[in-house]
Amino acid sequence: MNYRHAFHAGNFADVLKHVVLTRVLVHLCAKDKPFRAIDTHAGLGVYDLEAEEAGRTGEWHDGFGRLETPFAAEVEALLAPYRAAVEGVRARHGATTYPGSPAIIREHLRAGDKGVFVELHPIDAETLAHRYASDSRTKVMHLDGWTALNALIPPPERRGLVLIDPPYEERGEIDRLGQSLLKAARKWPTGIYLGWYPIKDLSAVDRMAATLDAGLERPALRLDLMIERPDDPTRLSGTGLIVVNPPWTLAAEAEQFLPALAERLARTGYGAFRCERLGPEG
Ligand SMILES: C[S@@+](CC[C@H](N)C(=O)[O-])C[C@H]1O[C@@H](n2cnc3c(N)ncnc32)[C@H](O)[C@@H]1O
Repeated sequence: MNYRHAFHAGNFADVLKHVVLTRVLVHLCAKDKPFRAIDTHAGLGVYDLEAEEAGRTGEWHDGFGRLETPFAAEVEALLAPYRAAVEGVRARHGATTYPGSPAIIREHLRAGDKGVFVELHPIDAETLAHRYASDSRTKVMHLDGWTALNALIPPPERRGLVLIDPPYEERGEIDRLGQSLLKAARKWPTGIYLGWYPIKDLSAVDRMAATLDAGLERPALRLDLMIERPDDPTRLSGTGLIVVNPPWTLAAEAEQFLPALAERLARTGYGAFRCERLGPEG
């Protein structure tokens, strides 16, 4: 386990992932019924963008750092819960911090909701457990996220989301994401799943999406954000999320915020996006 998210916190991939996560959380909060959010690869929860790790790569400057200038009003309205989550965490943890997915989830939990954060790195799991020890709505589990995914669904609330955000250190993890989404959606068909992936070799992502398109019995969206032409399969030229059982408004929302993010985050003048339906409604 070499991957440390502290080097990458707030980069362009985090921006897309966290914006989509907040849109799904907003949807879950629209009804009074409690929900559960399960984060299978949780990380540390809060990162300091002025710490040595973030400073060494400087990745956040080309991610969250480019969001300072407001977007058009309709895009800002969709980004408002994401910006509010960042502000909420900054108010508690310091003006140079950036929230990880557990902190973003926690910002949206109401009294009856639950957040379950799974992290395999022993120090990160301990840090996270310590951070949220006094919050009875949250639970931190030191476990393998893939195993936990199978064990934790369906949750007692029967309503909620699962974020799958692995580090992609091993070959074939994109295919593993596809297979895990298929299996999970059979076990808990009404859960909302967000599966994150990096885009280096676009053909690997296309293959995973085709498997899901053919095999899913539930609707899904493929949301890609490209910040560079995908010409070199060794470079991180984009990022994306598969959202199974997306809120019905998400496709229209993504058609608004994806082009804005692609334009703002493009590395060398090339920014592109894709919002594609997969599965039975694709
Ligand atoms: C991309 S980071 C997570 C970032 C986090 N979801 C966020 O958005 O802030 C991936 C995390 O998965 C952890 N990890 C690696 N292998 C794991 C496994 N098999 N099960 C659970 N966590 C794992 C890493 O230690 C790392 O913290």
